[in-house]
Amino acid sequence: MPGQDVWVKPEHVAIIMDGNGRWATARGLPRSAGHKAGVEALQRAVRAVGDRGIPWLTLYAFSSENWSRPKSEVSDLMGLLKFFIRRDLAELHRNGVRVRILGEREGLQKDIGALLREAEALTRANTRMNLQIAFNYGARDEIVRAARKAIAAAQAGEFDRLDEAVFASMLDTADAPDPDLVIRTGGDQRLSNFLLWQAAYAELVFLDCRWPDFGEAELDAALAQFGSRQRRFGGVVARDAS
Ligand code: IPE
Ligand code: IPE
Ligand code: MG
Repeated sequence: MPGQDVWVKPEHVAIIMDGNGRWATARGLPRSAGHKAGVEALQRAVRAVGDRGIPWLTLYAFSSENWSRPKSEVSDLMGLLKFFIRRDLAELHRNGVRVRILGEREGLQKDIGALLREAEALTRANTRMNLQIAFNYGARDEIVRAARKAIAAAQAGEFDRLDEAVFASMLDTADAPDPDLVIRTGGDQRLSNFLLWQAAYAELVFLDCRWPDFGEAELDAALAQFGSRQRRFGGVVARDAS
C-alpha cells in the first residue's frame, strides 16, 4: 500500500456512471432528477480527476442499449447531454481538456451530432487532460465497426497483416492508452458492454455509492483500492498497480 497521500496513480480512469435512477427513487423523485444530479457529479468528477493529475478519463454516459428505456427518459438524457455541453464546454476548454466522443454517431439527432463535433473541434489541441465521453456507445458495436473499417482498409491494401495494434487503431479509442482502472458506481458488478477490448487488464473497482453521490472521497477510495492492487498482466512477477 503506498503512503497516505502518494498514491500510485493510474494514467487512465474509466467510469460507469450508474445509479441515477435509484438515487432519485430513494428520494421520492422522478428518475430525471437523478440524471440531472448525475450531470453535477460528472462535472465534479472531471475536475477531481484533473486535479489529481490523471491525464485520461473516460465516462460512460449512454449505452447503445439505453435506447430501450421509455421515450421520455431517453429524451431527458439527450437534453442533459446538450445542456452539459452548452454549459460546460467553455470551462473544459479553458482548463485544457481535450474532449472526444466514443460511440456511433449515425442516427443521432442533428443538433446533438453538431454539438459533439463542436466540442471535439474546439478542444482538439488541448493537452492537459483527455476526456472521452462514451455516448450511444456499446463495446460490441465499436468492435464490429472497427472490423468493418479493417476489412475496407485491407481491401484498399493499407496493411499486410491485421494485428492487435492495427485493430486497436480502428477502435473509437484509437491512440488512447488502455484504462488502468474501471470504476462502476451503483452497486452492480458488471461491465454492461463498456470498453470490452480496452479493459482487458484493467483493475475493476465497484462502489455501492450511486452516481449522483460520487465525489472526491469516493474517487480517492477507488484510487486507494487501485494503489493496493498488484498487476501481473499474465506474468508471474507482481507489479504494484501503476
Ligand atoms: C445511469 O443511471 C445513467 C444511465 C444509464 C444513462 P441509471 O439510469 O442506469 O440508474 P439506475 O441504474 O436505474 O439506478
Ligand atoms: C450502464 O448502465 C450504462 C451507463 C452507465 C451509461 P446501465 O444501467 O444501462 O446498465 P445495466 O442495464 O444495469 O447493465
Ligand atoms: Mg443503471
